[in-house]
Amino acid sequence: MTEATAEEGRHGIDVDAPAALPVNGDQARMEQALHGLIGNAVKFSPRGGRIGVRLEAGPDEVCLTVSDEGIGIPADEIGAMGGKAFVRGRRAEGYAGVGAGLYLARLIAEGHSGRLGLASGGEDRGTTAELIIPL
Ligand SMILES: Nc1ncnc2c1ncn2[C@@H]1O[C@H](COP(=O)(O)OP(=O)(O)O)[C@@H](O)[C@H]1O
Ligand SMILES: [Mg+2]
Repeated sequence: MTEATAEEGRHGIDVDAPAALPVNGDQARMEQALHGLIGNAVKFSPRGGRIGVRLEAGPDEVCLTVSDEGIGIPADEIGAMGGKAFVRGRRAEGYAGVGAGLYLARLIAEGHSGRLGLASGGEDRGTTAELIIPL
């Protein structure tokens, strides 16, 4: 898990999930993906703010959403994040990390025939990552 500095350790996490939502998959890998996404939300929200973790089921898939109110990802680079290993954004300079978390989360999603989605309102406008796994 990402180490939080004292300054980063001021997050409230809102969890919205059903009591049970069974999915066929590799539990350890799912946890790894979730750690990566929550770790990013914590790390890239240096001014604090809320982090949302939501788990919901559609008719054919399960969607796990992690949203934050942090530094965001500029539109011109969001498409490249998670595509290859060791790719980090310009704004990630000065934050710990090597650029593996999103890449691994994408591989884990795709290994379950799912996908990873990433969206941001842009600089300082937060980020939302979605792990979508078919039922
Ligand atoms: N929640 C987020 N807020 C802002 N930027 C993010 C977020 N998640 C990912 N990113 C951007 O995507 C890049 C790749 O993410 P990741 O693979 O987890 O690498 P790392 O956490 O080691 O920097 C990050 O370096 C950062 O630029
Ligand atoms: Mg990361």
